[in-house]
Amino acid sequence: MNDSSHRPQHADALLSEELQGAPTVVPAQPTHTKKLYLESYGCQMNFSDSEIVASILDGAGYATTRNEEEADLILLNTCAIRDNAEQRVLKRLTQFKQAKRNRPKLVVGVLGCMAERLRENLLEQQKLVDLVVGPDAYRDLPNLVEQVHGGQKAVNVLLSREETYAEISPVRLDANGITAFISIMRGCDNMCSFCVVPFTRGRERSRDPQSIVREAKELFEQGYREVTLLGQNVDSYKWNIDNKGQIKNADEPVVRFAELLELVASVHPDLRVRFSTSHPKDMTDDVLHAMARHENICKYIHLPVQSGNSDVLKRMNRGYTREWYLDRIAAIRRILPGCSISTDVIAGFCGETEAEHQDTLSLMREVKYDMAYMFKYSERPRTLAERKFEDDVPEEVKGRRLREIIELQGEHSLAGAERLVGQVHKVLIEGVSKKSEEELFGRTTHNTIAVFPRGEHRAGEYVHVHATDRSSVTLRGTVVPAP
Ligand code: SAH
Ligand code: SF4
Ligand code: F3S
Repeated sequence: MNDSSHRPQHADALLSEELQGAPTVVPAQPTHTKKLYLESYGCQMNFSDSEIVASILDGAGYATTRNEEEADLILLNTCAIRDNAEQRVLKRLTQFKQAKRNRPKLVVGVLGCMAERLRENLLEQQKLVDLVVGPDAYRDLPNLVEQVHGGQKAVNVLLSREETYAEISPVRLDANGITAFISIMRGCDNMCSFCVVPFTRGRERSRDPQSIVREAKELFEQGYREVTLLGQNVDSYKWNIDNKGQIKNADEPVVRFAELLELVASVHPDLRVRFSTSHPKDMTDDVLHAMARHENICKYIHLPVQSGNSDVLKRMNRGYTREWYLDRIAAIRRILPGCSISTDVIAGFCGETEAEHQDTLSLMREVKYDMAYMFKYSERPRTLAERKFEDDVPEEVKGRRLREIIELQGEHSLAGAERLVGQVHKVLIEGVSKKSEEELFGRTTHNTIAVFPRGEHRAGEYVHVHATDRSSVTLRGTVVPAP
């Protein structure tokens, strides 16, 4: 992300330092006598879940606050994806533990993926918190908080095969009123060997399409102009069909991701649709054709590669080879010319040789991603990689490989932005630029940020911007008449 004032677009954008632990706020209502301070970490799914949590606790009389000092209840919605993500949360919990010395009535709880990973350990061994609640147990929060008020510690980390919180209306936290997330599924059934998510989020399940479309319609009616459909692997979204491909209920339609995309895109031509995350092994041409058919489905695909070497991909259990991945890229280029593509890369996975690392760099040179999130491999307890392979790439080698990956991506990102200079882009205005009151910012369909003079325009409008220049990867330009 090139500007922390702007809304993050993808799971790991939310892992950037600026956004870690951003507090979230809903206005207090007179009936709300208690105050909740909610801090969210990790991916967009977690931020989206925080909006469900705020909604459930709103029903129990809690208004959110930005000020942790005045909170009755402090909840951290946590991430377990890499060790450093967990360390940050543990540090924060130690601070809250100290705050509790002077505020004996204060209740502190852990939600999300660390709750699932560490469970009772947070209560019993580390004695850091009063409450531990996993991602499928948020409906139980009001009871669990009551239990704590009654003098007990409370835990619910049960994972569910059904829970999708489908009918809960999320409280839009920190909303700009223009862009919103909609969770379309939960959990993950892929067992990528490095990844903790299947353990913290449980089995994959899809939310019913009617409630998704209804939510998109309501958002549009409230003035929102963009929705991002969220799932760990959106390409395996399926409704009314079981894992063997059999139809469950003959009276109901079968909906896969391509159809869902079209249903949401049909809510209104002025409602932009984005989605995250696509999986290279499951992304079909159907999805690409659906994108081509609807101008309002944004021409931007996040397609995490992880590594450019087929042997590493096999050890990662990703379910595709370098050649398969490059074929998917070719399909995007063929069906959606000009579509922007981003990725995730892991440096220094178990057993990664220098030649295998070079394959990642060569794949990056071939694809020329517009953007990438890049990480050092971090071993996670219980994962396949932890059980099967040795985390044997020395720390300094991981660091050096990551630096090479970041440097190369830097060149590609700048070249990608440079290609957009000189063109006219349709931009959805999201708000006033952080740097100047006189300027507005918004995004192109390619997810590139454009900044331009304010004029008479306002957030929620579409304008055409002639990009005349760029600073780093942000376009600068002026509003021109629609072509
Ligand atoms: N469901 C998404 C990814 C979710 S996690 C997908 O399959 O693409 C987001 C990213 O974090 C992953 O794409 C991966 O690049 C990174 N990641 C996950 N586990 C990691 C680990 N143990 N160490 C380093 N990076 C990891
Ligand atoms: Fe993790 Fe793989 Fe599932 Fe993504 S697809 S959440 S990387 S197991
Ligand atoms: Fe998301 Fe982190 Fe959990 S990336 S699914 S919050 S482990």
